[in-house]
Amino acid sequence: MTRIYLNNGWLYSPEFKAEMTKSDYTGNFEIVRIPHSFTVTPFNAFSTDIYQKNALYRKTFKTEASWNEKKIFLTIDGAAHESEVFLNGKSLAVHKCGYTAFTVDLTNSLNPTDCENVLAIRVDSRESLNQPPFGYVVDYMTYGGIYRDVYIDVKNPTFIEDVFIKTYGTEYTADVKLSCENRQSPYKVSNKLISAKNVPFTTDPEKEIKLWSPDEPYLYTLITELSDESGNLIDSKETRFGFRDIRYDESGFYLNGKKIKIRGLNRHQAWPYVGYAMPKNMQIEDADILKYELGLNEVRTSHYPQSHYFLDRCDEIGLLVFTEIPGWQHIGNAEWKDLAVQNVREMVLQYRNHPSIFIWGVRINESMDDDEFYTRTNALAHELDPSRPTGGVRFLRHSNLLEDVYTFNDFSFYGTNDGCLPKKKVTKTRKGYMITEYNGHMFPTKTFDNEPHRTEHALRHAKVLDAVAGHEEISGSSGWCMTDYNTHKDFGSGDYICYHGVLDMFRNPKVAAFVYQSQQDSKVVGDVLSITSSMDIGEHAGGARGDVYIITNAESVKMYVNNIFIKEYTVAQSPFKNLSHGPILIDDYIGHRLVDEDGIKEKHSVPMKDMLFALQKYGVDKLPFFIYILYMDIKEVFRNAILLQ
Ligand code: GAL
Repeated sequence: MTRIYLNNGWLYSPEFKAEMTKSDYTGNFEIVRIPHSFTVTPFNAFSTDIYQKNALYRKTFKTEASWNEKKIFLTIDGAAHESEVFLNGKSLAVHKCGYTAFTVDLTNSLNPTDCENVLAIRVDSRESLNQPPFGYVVDYMTYGGIYRDVYIDVKNPTFIEDVFIKTYGTEYTADVKLSCENRQSPYKVSNKLISAKNVPFTTDPEKEIKLWSPDEPYLYTLITELSDESGNLIDSKETRFGFRDIRYDESGFYLNGKKIKIRGLNRHQAWPYVGYAMPKNMQIEDADILKYELGLNEVRTSHYPQSHYFLDRCDEIGLLVFTEIPGWQHIGNAEWKDLAVQNVREMVLQYRNHPSIFIWGVRINESMDDDEFYTRTNALAHELDPSRPTGGVRFLRHSNLLEDVYTFNDFSFYGTNDGCLPKKKVTKTRKGYMITEYNGHMFPTKTFDNEPHRTEHALRHAKVLDAVAGHEEISGSSGWCMTDYNTHKDFGSGDYICYHGVLDMFRNPKVAAFVYQSQQDSKVVGDVLSITSSMDIGEHAGGARGDVYIITNAESVKMYVNNIFIKEYTVAQSPFKNLSHGPILIDDYIGHRLVDEDGIKEKHSVPMKDMLFALQKYGVDKLPFFIYILYMDIKEVFRNAILLQ
């Protein structure tokens, strides 16, 4: 098989006209490359109307002599949202999903060898389409355009259509599906296993197999070869995968028999200005940020299947993935539901060899119960992939659980209560349980909000993580969310942005990002240290600094003021007891200086220090009552300490 990428040299028209699909059309186009976004969007405050178009992409290519007797397939990895493929003026296929790939057989519509063909793709991004996620409101922008790769595969008439590898520990089975021209002919299929770095095994591979896990993401490649009766090679296919066992039950999530607490974030595949249209390196970068900067072991691809480049990277670096069908709260009519079921089919068939995917989301995010509909989606996912559990993200407590895991968005935390609900308050099921969202709209935070706000945001993330860590029956959580994102008018801060990320849209960290980062072992990633304050009084009402925290993974942190030692802090002082590295509150900026530098007696220095600390924390006018009670004799303290010395 030969693959030819068709990402360059496309002609684009923001408006579709049927005559544009024909070879004799001579109108004006813009020259563009894929990945492409219909509209370069402003940073914020723009209407979603600006990217809603029924547009056209057009490209010419020659029929090659080497394509004789071959089959020619065109694949579009992702086009938002409805696409129609025309070849030489003839409509060949319509695909109605903005988040899954589709393949069209061009063979019978190609012009003769050496002649030009006109490939035209109509892409409709209007939100009036009757397909997921449209039909009501959606809290994210949906953009438009061909935003993932386009390529042509040249294949023999008989070829390997699909290989699905299921693993059970170090065992595997490969389901090989052939597309046969002549079903009577005897074909031979053979499989050869190599390590993903293309190193052939010197001994029996089965004895060398290493399991895939977040810590050690070992990958393998299965080379499947198809030969004819006389042993001539007809086709071969390489499938990368990992060996691992997944088990989800009431007591938690197990990978290769080992219980893992899931700590992740939700990710939208969007960036400023270009929307969805980002190439491979940026997809890789996002996975690396989640794994290495934020120290997570999981990501939920909310609320749709995302780029294979992103997933490939998750496989390589060991980042577990929860992936789900497109949709947001709304369930449409029968035709719409059929498309959602089709989305399950495409998602599972296209993504099931990624070892990083540990669960399929087979419900429309946060929709109401619909047993008839979800029985279909759940059954189909199990039929196409018996090796993984299913979930379906809901905001409903005690909803009907048709899937294997109760996956729940727990937005119960409002700042002063418990960080999450215990499982029994959400569901009585004896199956597994996971929190799939928290925080988000409960505390939107801009990088340019003032310091107390940004600190509170960080603490709220710490509080939920701490609570989840304390509940054995909760298999883990994915917070809302990785980055800020452009959204519809009904959501966000009035400027079409949801400031829900622990990173901003450019992937710059907010304080909350360090809460995640600091959960990593310093022996593995080195020391993480962030102080929640820049020590500028102008960030605070009345100049009162409030609570300042040390966010670190270090065993201990020594604080100095102008090289003078003040205090050593250790993680044992953190109020977040279930976290291995909870934020630590700073409670002293003075140390021993009153005695050492000002000559104040030890016994007087202690209440003085407390008072000075309270003054800078609360401000003169806002000293809490307990300070007055504690220090009724404050005047005397000061008189003794200062005036009389
Ligand atoms: C959830 C929803 C997410 C996002 C989040 C904001 O209800 O699933 O898509 O809108 O709220 O906190």
